[in-house]
Amino acid sequence: MAHEVDVLLHEKRIFDPDDETIERAHVDNWEAELKKGKDLEKYWAEKAEQFEWFQKWDKVLDDTNKPFYKWFVNGKINLAYNAVDRWIETPKRNQVAILYANERGDERKITYYELYRQVNKFANGLKNLGVKKGDRVSMYLPMCPELLISMLACTKIGAIHSVVYSGLSVGAFVERMNDARAKILITADGTFRRGKIIDLKKISDEALLQCHTVETVIVVNHTGNPIEISDLSGREIFYDRFIEGESDEFEAEEMDAEDPLFILYTSGSTGKPKGVLHTTAGYMVGIATTLRDIFDIHDDDLWWCTGDIGWITGHSYVIYAPLLNGTTTLVYEGAPDYPDPGAWWHMVERYGVTKFYTAPTAIRHLMRFGEKYPNIYNLSSLKILGTVGEPINPEAWMWYYKNVGKEKLPIMDTWWQTETGMHLISPLPTTPLKPGSVTKPIPGVEAEVVDEKGNSVPLGKGGFLVIKTPWPAMFRTLYEDEERFINVYWKDYPGFYKAGDMARKDKDGYLWIQGRSDDVLKIAGHRIGTSEVESAFVSHPAVAEAAVIGKSDPVKGQVIKAFLILKEGYQLKTQLIEDLKRHIRYELGPVAVLGELDQVESLPKTRSGKIMRRVLRAREAGEEVGDTSTLEE
Ligand code: PRX
Repeated sequence: MAHEVDVLLHEKRIFDPDDETIERAHVDNWEAELKKGKDLEKYWAEKAEQFEWFQKWDKVLDDTNKPFYKWFVNGKINLAYNAVDRWIETPKRNQVAILYANERGDERKITYYELYRQVNKFANGLKNLGVKKGDRVSMYLPMCPELLISMLACTKIGAIHSVVYSGLSVGAFVERMNDARAKILITADGTFRRGKIIDLKKISDEALLQCHTVETVIVVNHTGNPIEISDLSGREIFYDRFIEGESDEFEAEEMDAEDPLFILYTSGSTGKPKGVLHTTAGYMVGIATTLRDIFDIHDDDLWWCTGDIGWITGHSYVIYAPLLNGTTTLVYEGAPDYPDPGAWWHMVERYGVTKFYTAPTAIRHLMRFGEKYPNIYNLSSLKILGTVGEPINPEAWMWYYKNVGKEKLPIMDTWWQTETGMHLISPLPTTPLKPGSVTKPIPGVEAEVVDEKGNSVPLGKGGFLVIKTPWPAMFRTLYEDEERFINVYWKDYPGFYKAGDMARKDKDGYLWIQGRSDDVLKIAGHRIGTSEVESAFVSHPAVAEAAVIGKSDPVKGQVIKAFLILKEGYQLKTQLIEDLKRHIRYELGPVAVLGELDQVESLPKTRSGKIMRRVLRAREAGEEVGDTSTLEE
């Protein structure tokens, strides 16, 4: 590991922007923009001016009660109004807002005006059900226009949406729905995946048996999968019926800048998933600005972020930021390699995508099929590329640069998290790039690499990544768990935000992210807590105890390696392995990719009974175990 990092820090290649990129860029001078960001409040106030406010803010930042920061104090605004209604009076009215396409070749184009009407109808439907500001509405939907419409409708009313990723399964779904105490669930008959239809309704039905707060279930007829509306309590209704006859006018709710916008669950090191809570105005300003400046959004762009809306990448950069910028967002339902590994490049050619944002795991996956596929298609519409979700290794960066970017397009390696809401460390289009480095914090943000005590570490040395400045899209708390919010993020380094990542800084001040410093796995860019996987294992009748670590994988980054103590009479044989795989899939979904299962007699634990995953990891890697003075046996 240390050796690898050393190689990274000796990375000599630097890629400067070409003239065309510089000429076109909104921000044509990176260094000057970084300087501008030093005056934090002025910088973000200028960025906030782009929106239509019902009432302007009194103060940009209130940091008198850290870490409970407030942004745009007393401002009144509505996100959906700014993302949709605002464009209706402009020439963008008939421009495509959402371009939906899928692996079967279907497409739907929804203009801003059409979107406006659809959102209003849905908002009226929700209102008639009694949904009001502050109520929680859950979605368990594929990448389909109705997901965007229902989220925007919530935002327009001021209801808090809580989207559950459709790749999560029953156990994970129940946990998230119950924590949010959702009143409404919007789901679908299914989703297309590699030529098959995955029955989402069935998963929802099973989850609903354990969720008792849901009063109404709205079902999108998306795939034509024949399903029955079977619920005897009569709480189910098809989406089309639900909006039938609703008015297409709806007045946006005046939201306070700090009113909650959404909850999105993410995995932590311990315990149940964390309900990351984002609020209104700061979030809008942060995401709209970063998309515009980092991906240099112009009126003629066609933006494609391949992330799923069920994660933060999709919330911020598939829906909200593109619409707040009045651009066209491509919403694609399908895998990168289906029907063949040219599927995504085919989309780029077919629609003339100009900005393309994806994850390292997808690039590594596509690399395996060679250079042939990206070279079959005409990718000349592309202007800027991006990556997110995990560190990108220099080989993958170079492959992307060469085969997709044709050795001239800049790659924006954006570091951020569910909690940060927006990009925090990333180049701008005019930044000189080093393959594998996220470069520097964006204007208005300061980051540092520190040791356990909070002191900056020498250049080149690994340490913990902290953010030193507040930023507008920062999460405000963990839903109904303030204590955990403080303990996890703000206690170790008072005044600084602890990111939970390890990083290094090189002599040019460029940052190199090394991965998580906690017990969170990154499987194909998806975040999953070891403790969630362990709980899922022990809920199986054959398993007495489980410990889980990440095992590195050339494509997915990490997969799960589990050490299991089985109950009397069980042996880890083929049948049980299959059964455990099914069980994990049922509890967590396909995101939990199992690599290896080992049956063990005991697990390394501290005297207080905590599993020492560090010991397992070291043993697995054939490294020294280090300090074991707290080890029980
Ligand atoms: O470890 C970092 C990694 O993803 C984590 C955040 O995961 P999540 O909340 O699921 O959000 C992912 C999408 C924003 C971080 O703690 N990560 C994210 N982007 C990068 C990254 N690691 C390295 N380079 C990145 N560009």
